[in-house]
Amino acid sequence: MTIRNVLRMGDERLWQRAEPVSQFGAPQLRELLADMRDTMQALNGAGLAAPQIGVGLRVVIFGALQAAQPNPRYPDAAKVPYTVLINPVITPLGDELEEDWEGCLSVPGLRGLVPRYAQIRYRGLDEHGAPIDRTVSGFHARVVQHECDHLDGILYPMRIRDMKKFGFSEVLFPNREMQDE
Ligand code: NI
Repeated sequence: MTIRNVLRMGDERLWQRAEPVSQFGAPQLRELLADMRDTMQALNGAGLAAPQIGVGLRVVIFGALQAAQPNPRYPDAAKVPYTVLINPVITPLGDELEEDWEGCLSVPGLRGLVPRYAQIRYRGLDEHGAPIDRTVSGFHARVVQHECDHLDGILYPMRIRDMKKFGFSEVLFPNREMQDE
């Protein structure tokens, strides 16, 4: 079990475009995925992208590790199955955007209101190189867009339209108990 250090905003590695994975079944990929999973679980994240632990590959994970144990930071995450998504491609379905609050393990303690496509199709590969092809909406669509942004060096604050809707979680939501991010 290895919990890796999550890079925080300001680290140049978070601005890099990540490279596609070309080799499947290699022990390095298995180790990377195990470390990402351990790290996401330890920090109660809803998702994690490889660049956040300093690995410049197009690999993201997201979703609930245990359905019976809802994520205290993202209750809606329980509805999203745990997914390993490699070399993802996102296609928006329609122009409709939805705004909702997001946080990020690389931007600890803060939340921002971020517009995302309401419905998307995403494709990619799982850890064995088998294809994944899903059409999703709501929180599921949001988390995929957030994580895949990391692969192109984009953090959610760059997408906030009204910077008055960006602030510290404990100030924005004083009555809601939120875990430290
Ligand atoms: Ni993030």
